[in-house]
Amino acid sequence: MKISSAEFVMSNSDVAQCPKGRFPEYAFIGRSNVGKSSLINMLMQRKSLAKTSGRPGKTQLINHFLINKNWYLVDLPGYGYARVSKSSKKTFQKFITQYFEKRQQLVLGFVLIDCRHEPQPIDLAFMEWLGESQIPFNIVFTKADKLKPMALERNLKAYELKMLESWEEMPQYFITSSQNSLGRESLLEYIDKLNDSLSAL
Ligand code: GTP
Ligand code: MG
Repeated sequence: MKISSAEFVMSNSDVAQCPKGRFPEYAFIGRSNVGKSSLINMLMQRKSLAKTSGRPGKTQLINHFLINKNWYLVDLPGYGYARVSKSSKKTFQKFITQYFEKRQQLVLGFVLIDCRHEPQPIDLAFMEWLGESQIPFNIVFTKADKLKPMALERNLKAYELKMLESWEEMPQYFITSSQNSLGRESLLEYIDKLNDSLSAL
């Protein structure tokens, strides 16, 4: 897919205030610092369309980006990063779960997972919740540039084995790096196909 335009539209914490209309949208979700905002910049080949930071907790709101004037990418705050003690903070912020439950235009969510780490309970719990809520999602492994091919393969295998403990099959996944644009073409082609299949309805 050729990207001819990518514009920031709005930020808010209320799903009811998100853009009206019927353009399909795709949301990036995952732990703080996993690389959600960087992935948006990589896909759009823009340095700072979405705000990124080395410190977790940069994205705080639901951010809509209008792409090619006919679909949206959505950058969400991360979960799993609590400045305050765990007991005093809900694991998943309410406006994030409400976004997934209520947003009719959402085609699917991409759950971002840092490929360097072993499966984290919070990611497994979030995917479990998406499954129970019947919200379609795919997995995007991030920061692939940080691992050698053998280590990457080993981690992906381990992830798949872990997923198969609770899922019938491994969800479709993509391997990406925002540093060297790995996975850009496949993700964009995939979204393009989904957009086409929706407009054919
Ligand atoms: P929050 O908004 O805080 O939830 O974080 P986020 O998931 O949006 O992460 P962000 O894109 O801000 O990136 C966090 C850090 O990881 C930044 O320092 C990025 O430069 C770095 N980073 C993101 N993606 C990659 C990648 O593919 N490779 C490498 N090497 N670093 C990355
Ligand atoms: Mg962010």
